[in-house]
Amino acid sequence: MALAAGLTAEDCMVQSMVEASPIKWHLAHVTWFFETLILEQWLPKLGRPFRAFCPAYRTLFNSYYVGIGAPHPRGERGVLSRPSLDEVRAYRAAIDEQMFALMQAAGPEPELTRLIALGANHEQQHQELILTDLKHHFSRNPLLPAYRDTHSCAAATAPMEQRFVAFAGGKDEIGHRGDFFAFDNECPRHGVWIEPFEMATRPVTNAEYLQFIEDGGYRRADLWLADGWDTVRRERWEAPLYWLPDGEVFTLAGKRPMDTAEPVCHVSYYEADAFARWAKARLPAEGEWEHVAQSQAEAASKPGAAPTACGNFLETGLFHPRAALGGQETADGLAQLFGDVWEWTQSAYLPYPGFQPPEGTVGEYNGKFMANQMVLRGGSCATPADHIRASYRNFFYPQARWQFSGIRLVRDLR
Ligand SMILES: [Fe+2]
Repeated sequence: MALAAGLTAEDCMVQSMVEASPIKWHLAHVTWFFETLILEQWLPKLGRPFRAFCPAYRTLFNSYYVGIGAPHPRGERGVLSRPSLDEVRAYRAAIDEQMFALMQAAGPEPELTRLIALGANHEQQHQELILTDLKHHFSRNPLLPAYRDTHSCAAATAPMEQRFVAFAGGKDEIGHRGDFFAFDNECPRHGVWIEPFEMATRPVTNAEYLQFIEDGGYRRADLWLADGWDTVRRERWEAPLYWLPDGEVFTLAGKRPMDTAEPVCHVSYYEADAFARWAKARLPAEGEWEHVAQSQAEAASKPGAAPTACGNFLETGLFHPRAALGGQETADGLAQLFGDVWEWTQSAYLPYPGFQPPEGTVGEYNGKFMANQMVLRGGSCATPADHIRASYRNFFYPQARWQFSGIRLVRDLR
């Protein structure tokens, strides 16, 4: 609700593309999750009646859970002028109240506790989507509105120098461990073999990406995967999403001059892959990325979690990646492994060996999307800081560009 503060009802209703949802729909859908997947199941178990707030919401605000029934079509979320934004606010307040009552009545019931944690983490994912979907929507308006008048770092800051740090590799384990929350797709923890590699100390900057463009990056088929090259030509890509003419970019603070020291952002997997090939490097495999992230988390005495001190997350209120400056590195010499921009990996989003989705409707949360998408790691400037961790796997289709997605390079050491 804090993220939606200051937006008008009209702002909250627009759906600018099928993949993005109206803000009002996000607000209602996360409450739908608590109502339908928790209250509806658990109130009867506690001998209390469940009464739907509005029976039609079960369909309207269902995203993709076919176990609940056929959802309202994804591309038609923007036609929902009713319920009004005020009615959605009332829905949220009513379900929140019932959730508090349920928690008090149930006590520390492990299965319920886990579902509530899932609901809260699900809401955090939609907090990020509220920002990325709104950015896309505002970018389609020729007025290029500003969401928040965030102050940002002055343009033309000097970036941290890019170096490569060597990792010996060997046998390691990746995946969730510990007794804190993780999504099912981070499990089970399992062994991986990692060849020696070196990783860049910071994400690729706008300045470096400009060199790729000026070197004909978008015109050289030899740099691209076949699907990527088809996409470049079909979509007429010549630069990352939200780059404007005359060296300006669109941000959630409106139009502004590009800071070339900032991490390049809003690139697809195809662009990240082509850039890496041009730079005579490659994208990290998710095992390599997690190998490095785990050592950072261990050094910070937070095994499995994120050393968030060095990154820029939703809480800074910048809603934009900022330049990596010297002095922000962790002990291994790396900066911004967490925060600022999601980092595309070269890993397809697949089940880990032994993966088992949970029984029932929540089993549809992650597992059924394990085809044709690529894994991203580390969180972004739109991710809540306590949402991310070393084992966290985000995933998007390789052509997707509206998330805060960037590039970190690795090279083989053989
Ligand atoms: Fe959702």
